Amino acid sequence: MRTLVTGGCGFIGSNFIRLLLTQSAMSVCNVDKLTYAGNLANLASIAQDYPDRYAFEHADIADKESMARIIKKHRIEAIINFAAETHVDRSIIDPTPFLATNIIGTQTLLTVAKEAGIQHFVHVSTDEVYGALGPDGKFTEQTPLAPNSPYSASKASADLLCRAWYETYNYPVIITRCSNNYGPYQFPEKLIPLMYTRAARGEALPVYGDGCNVRDWIHVDDHCQGVLLALQKGKPGAIYNLGGDAERDNLTVVKAILAYCNQPESLISFVTDRPGHDKRYAMNFALAARELGFAPTRTFEQGLRETLDWYATHTAWVNDVTSGAYLAFMRQWYGEKL
Ligand code: NAD
Ligand code: TYD
Repeated sequence: MRTLVTGGCGFIGSNFIRLLLTQSAMSVCNVDKLTYAGNLANLASIAQDYPDRYAFEHADIADKESMARIIKKHRIEAIINFAAETHVDRSIIDPTPFLATNIIGTQTLLTVAKEAGIQHFVHVSTDEVYGALGPDGKFTEQTPLAPNSPYSASKASADLLCRAWYETYNYPVIITRCSNNYGPYQFPEKLIPLMYTRAARGEALPVYGDGCNVRDWIHVDDHCQGVLLALQKGKPGAIYNLGGDAERDNLTVVKAILAYCNQPESLISFVTDRPGHDKRYAMNFALAARELGFAPTRTFEQGLRETLDWYATHTAWVNDVTSGAYLAFMRQWYGEKL
């Protein structure tokens, strides 16, 4: 199968492309706009290792002509849409690029995919579209959408467009909604790599509010397996929750990172809470388990250790991504907090 993977130079997309190339016979055309989060180094050597099965196209998913041209040129049979603006805090500063890529970009892709007659389309979404949970319960696919941040509102909008393409045009799109990912190549603006890179340098760790917000953590490899299973076995029009069965509050995660780095807990700095900060996420992924055979394989503690080992041994990558756009964002967002 000839696939188009969008956002393949980002964190999850790059791990997914590696999975497709190593564990399937599929070919991959990676379309990426190379925003601050898109890094060709995340796929270093892939073009050389797989010259016949891998191609890169520098393009914006919201550019209809480019997308139609690329789909035709590479005779694409399946689309897996990872491309997005993804950081909640950046969406609070400026929602505009989130609407442009996450909503208009998804609509553009759905339109060209339908016109080209592509019969496989997996749209990668997030548990954040459901909003926040109290202390009990889990999100199911029937939980009403109630996004609270500009990021999650833009992702929920994209999900609704996918639904409309299925209901109106009978277009066979599948949605996956996953919980918080961690693993190699995650840009260090997200909790785990941010806290690791700062702890390793002996810098203060900015914990929002009281640190008691809860996320369900999943290793990126497990998420990628879930997306691949959805592509291979998912039902047209279906939505599949994917999760890691690993709820942890933020303070527990931050303290584990400090312990790994042999740094004192006095580095923790409680800062002004994120506006609209969702209290808790937890996923019921029974449908994906039953229909796709999905199951997360790593415990959080094992996956976290492997991930921190990866960051500790990839200092050139870390030094490269913690310059430029990263520093500008850190100054703008945390400037007065830290
Ligand atoms: P990321 O920010 O690391 O990477 C996003 C990639 O998309 C980058 O390579 C970027 O250059 C590219 N991109 C952005 N706008 C584009 C555009 N207009 N056209 C083409 N490419 C564009 O993101 P990630 O963490 O890898 O997330 C990937 C997907 O998974 C997103 O759709 C996100 O909503 C979803 N998701 C992420 C998580 C998580 O914990 N990170 C959890 C659930 C779902
Ligand atoms: P994040 O990695 O931004 O993912 P999301 O908001 O999409 O779940 O944040 C994970 C949790 O960590 C969330 O509860 C916010 C918290 N957090 C902090 O306490 N400090 C920080 O500097 C960051 C980036 C996140």
